[in-house]
Amino acid sequence: MSKRWYQENRRDPWRRQAKAKGYRARSAYKLKQIQDKFEVIRKGDYVLDIGCHPGGWTQVAVEEVGDDGHVIGVDLLSTSPVEGATILIGNITNPKTMEQIDKELEGHFLNCVISDISPRLTGRYDTDQAISLELSTMVLDASMPILTPGGSFVTKIFQGVGIEGLIEAARMRFSNVQRYAPTASRNSSSETYLVCRNKLPKVKKEAMGRTAYEQLKDHLKGLDIVIEEDDPEIDSKIGFRKYVKSK
Ligand SMILES: C[S@@+](CC[C@H](N)C(=O)[O-])C[C@H]1O[C@@H](n2cnc3c(N)ncnc32)[C@H](O)[C@@H]1O
Repeated sequence: MSKRWYQENRRDPWRRQAKAKGYRARSAYKLKQIQDKFEVIRKGDYVLDIGCHPGGWTQVAVEEVGDDGHVIGVDLLSTSPVEGATILIGNITNPKTMEQIDKELEGHFLNCVISDISPRLTGRYDTDQAISLELSTMVLDASMPILTPGGSFVTKIFQGVGIEGLIEAARMRFSNVQRYAPTASRNSSSETYLVCRNKLPKVKKEAMGRTAYEQLKDHLKGLDIVIEEDDPEIDSKIGFRKYVKSK
């Protein structure tokens, strides 16, 4: 570990606070700040936390829903049990994972989906941003059939090309869509969260019959960007692809 990394982490108040309060990750404070501002989770809610490892957001969600609520966390990686939550291992882009979640819900709808999902970073910002955008858009699509009308959806996005496409797709599905950067995000970070509230009973006319992913692809096409099929250079657990300028 470099000296700089060590000093930055020692100085990081969110990390210290997380440790002191027993949260597994400093990111717990990002959800706390989102919750303080937008109240996306209420007592008794059914909440799905997508990309939950190591469990910081799941811990906060369990506190917020209280004894009558239900929290399901899912991640590619295994997450140590969180008291009061059900933890699943799975890839959210795989229909089998959605089947597992459905089974767990036993016919209930979710009141809120929270997702701090992030691909394994390659270190190339453009690539990471593009993969993250694609992933968050797929999370939105996966959430729509199991989220109740009036429900909320939160996902991470990295600033950059194409995010307006996801925001537009979200506006077709929720009456209130805002971007929010919690102060608990590192100063140097370009991450922000898309906070969507009040899921509409029906997707708006302009997007009817289309997934958010299809809308994003169209948006990118308008920017002269296409989604390239498999890029062998990218070693991503989810096998996503990067965007390149169309020829
Ligand atoms: C930044 S971490 C989440 C931290 C978490 N919110 C917390 O507070 O502990 C992002 C997570 O997204 C997960 N992830 C990435 N792609 C995924 C996928 N396709 N399906 C499920 N989880 C995924 C990663 O494994 C990683 O653990």
